[in-house]
Amino acid sequence: MDIWHIRGGNRLEGACFVQGSKNASLPIIAAAVISPARSELMNVPQLRDVDASLRILRHLGCTAEQIGNDVYIDSGPLAENAIPHSLMLEMRSSVIFMGALLARCGEARLSLPGGCQLGRRPIDIHLAALRQMGAEIEENGGEISCRAVRLQGTQLHLPFPSVGATENIMLAATAAEGETVIHGAAREPEIAALGEYLRRMGCRIYGDGTDTIVIQGHACEPELSYRIIPDRIVASTFACAAAAAGGDVELRGVDPEHFSTVLHVLKRAGCDIMCTKRSVRVRSGGQLTAVGDICTRPYPGFPTDAQPVLMAALLKARGRTVITENIFENRYRQVPELRRLGADISTSGKTAEIWGVDRLRGASLTATDLRGGAAMIVAGLGAEGETVICDDGHVTRGYEHFDSRLRALGADIYLEH
Ligand code: EPZ
Repeated sequence: MDIWHIRGGNRLEGACFVQGSKNASLPIIAAAVISPARSELMNVPQLRDVDASLRILRHLGCTAEQIGNDVYIDSGPLAENAIPHSLMLEMRSSVIFMGALLARCGEARLSLPGGCQLGRRPIDIHLAALRQMGAEIEENGGEISCRAVRLQGTQLHLPFPSVGATENIMLAATAAEGETVIHGAAREPEIAALGEYLRRMGCRIYGDGTDTIVIQGHACEPELSYRIIPDRIVASTFACAAAAAGGDVELRGVDPEHFSTVLHVLKRAGCDIMCTKRSVRVRSGGQLTAVGDICTRPYPGFPTDAQPVLMAALLKARGRTVITENIFENRYRQVPELRRLGADISTSGKTAEIWGVDRLRGASLTATDLRGGAAMIVAGLGAEGETVICDDGHVTRGYEHFDSRLRALGADIYLEH
């Protein structure tokens, strides 16, 4: 159990380098198995989810190790196409290995965890697309076995721009006969990052980052290197922390375009936002103004992953903010915990209504999920007195050195393991 201790009231000042993207790293680590290759990945964050992915690679027979922020993978020795329940349980997004193993071995056996803290998390879009490509898929009590003698390229139309389904299809399609076109694909920056990695592997793939992706062919590069893009959600989290606590923080190594919707909202709330090509400076006097309506949407809309941390930043914003969460059915689990700090939030279905309060008081909280836990830390920075957060390893799944990086900016925070 991790225990976060935060004493609020300090302004945040200084510069902070933002880690590489968790949600770009995980599909790229899975993609390393689509053909025998030695991959060197740079700027990979040191996270529990990355560790879990590398353990899956080693279970499959690959060599995979992380040294600092560099990851070295050799997928040549791959000798297994089944991932046990114990490894799948550690990280839901391991479903991405299905497409990768189908491409490499023509077979994949996974044990899928049920829902998670955010909701049911079905994979029907993944399975329908792979079946349309000719995969035979049997589902039996959460155990999934897929087989495809030869996947066939085809025209796919996604009913929803699922990030994971888009990634799974991209990986499987690298081994399909003929051309695969994904219509209605997810457009997140992490998709374009995966597309670039696959091109380095020798795949012919176009349109990644748009809603139509064309995949024509196989991988064959035996050696490649790739630098992971910056994490737009971690960048958003630090920006929200500066807004909540007040201060003047420069985020380095970021792509402002990747989280421009979050920056626009913070600007509306009264922050000064100054961007260069690779940095964002956030200045806040600490007293924010409520921003009215915010709706989460698939990229390039407002990101669902930033919804909890933005909520935390606006708890004292003068006036009324209404958030509509359109992506996950259960992404307000942080609300009862934030209320313990004195926040005025009411939820009904997809909607959360926040009225700014004059002050928040530190309290004992329990982290509910990755971004909910980060939101509690952000709120604690803007609360009077001490906030203690019991966290069953959620936050360190996605935030590298979060306590020391916030401390370097002046926050009074430490993490007790
Ligand atoms: C990815 O999850 C991210 N995870 C999530 O980040 C992120 O919130 C999400 O995309 C949306 O941007 C990783 O990249 C590892 P989806 P994913 O498939 O792929 C429904 C974080 O905090 N759906 O786009 O699972 C689904 O239930 C995590 O870093 C179906 O109905 O997201 C959800 O309501 C949390 N059927 C919605 O679509 C399907 O087959 C979005 O899911 C697939 C998804």
